[in-house]
Amino acid sequence: MIPFRTVSPAHRYPETGVFYRALDREFPMAVRGEGCWLIDDKGRRYLDACGGAFVANLGHGVPELADAVAAQMRRVAYVNGTAFANPAAEELAQELRSLNPEGLDFAYFLSSGSEAVEAALKLARQHWVESGRPGKHKIIALEPGYHGNTLLALSASARPHYKKTYGPWLVPVTMIPAPYSYRRAPDSPAMTAQALEDAILREGADAVAAFIAEPVGGSSTGACVPPGDYHRRVREICDRHQVLFIADEVLCGSGRTGRWTALERFGVAPDIMTLGKGLSGGCVPLSAVVASRKILDPIAKGSGAFKHAQTFSHSPVICAAGLAAVRLIKARKLVDRCAEMGALLHRKLRALADLPAVGDVRGLGLLAGVEFVADKASKAPFPRARRFAETFTAAALDAGLLVWPNVGQADGENGDLVMLAPPFIVTEAEIDELVARFKTALARTLEVRHGRP
Ligand SMILES: Cc1ncc(COP(=O)(O)O)c(C=O)c1O
Repeated sequence: MIPFRTVSPAHRYPETGVFYRALDREFPMAVRGEGCWLIDDKGRRYLDACGGAFVANLGHGVPELADAVAAQMRRVAYVNGTAFANPAAEELAQELRSLNPEGLDFAYFLSSGSEAVEAALKLARQHWVESGRPGKHKIIALEPGYHGNTLLALSASARPHYKKTYGPWLVPVTMIPAPYSYRRAPDSPAMTAQALEDAILREGADAVAAFIAEPVGGSSTGACVPPGDYHRRVREICDRHQVLFIADEVLCGSGRTGRWTALERFGVAPDIMTLGKGLSGGCVPLSAVVASRKILDPIAKGSGAFKHAQTFSHSPVICAAGLAAVRLIKARKLVDRCAEMGALLHRKLRALADLPAVGDVRGLGLLAGVEFVADKASKAPFPRARRFAETFTAAALDAGLLVWPNVGQADGENGDLVMLAPPFIVTEAEIDELVARFKTALARTLEVRHGRP
């Protein structure tokens, strides 16, 4: 039986005091995690093939992370970043300096990816205001694309079903087509980055503050990898028109693609970068905005303060977790391992391409996307009412496999894909198990004709 069964809200409310995102579902109760596995209160084991939400990069139940957090809590759990510096934040920033693109030397720590995106966009805006160019305020972003659920980050996201209800509160952001290789012609403006230059010229370079993009697609395009010269072209266009390039590496960064940052293999550096999700190995909410001296200088010489602060910015406990995670990644060469096991994962995932409904299998490192289509030749998506991605995710859960679904990427409404992003410690035997369970889930999904299982 599929445990992701739907229940009427009336039935569910009396049993739980927690208000989860889905109000009509009963979830298994997770009580323990070990390596790539989660265990529920009935003793069922689930292979965590997506690290929760691309978060558990080091696996579950990592004693070094628990010890680091506990030790920091005993020393000093909290100081406010507006009153004190703290060694954990300072040391983490130094560790990141040696990993991040050259020049991106200064980190501002926050808790979620959405917060980091909001802060990165505000930093870009403040940079221009304090550089004497207050007219530069517009943001350009990719469609499909996702940067978070707070209102500025959501404004910069192309997710119609998330945005519809909140439309009156969102700010205008100029959307250009993403380099979504499965559904775009190779010489189209989306794939060559010409779409970016066209948008800057249309909006007026004097009005455009920043271009924000995920260097390798996250859940919105299902791990789409842009052509090799895409980001170099983006860099040239941004430089020519004095537009800041913000790389949102919340999902694809922190080693996930087999390099510390996804942008690294394209040979360019952004002006501002965001990190999050797996940065702390997933044990606490840690994110960061990283910027160069060039970005901070006008503010340092001007008002002297970034006009943004949050209670848990630069938190010692949160940064101690990040520091332990980054040191573990370095000591165990886990980014190299991610590249190696990623190559193996992609080799084994090729077996899925011939299965019914699998339109495309793609990605980089331990980040993969599998897009489902109703017709492989025309790439026509399933109608939304079929709820293919949701049905597959439920069937996968039933088979003891955790995957991350996404919908709507084909045309804003239709489109189904699932993402795979196992911890960097995944073994070959676990990858084989992942592929076997994936096939079982797909066979079950194809048996279900209409929507919910
Ligand atoms: C690329 C990207 N940016 C930002 C975010 C927002 O992160 P959070 O959910 O931690 O706020 C996400 C979350 O999925 C993401 O994938």
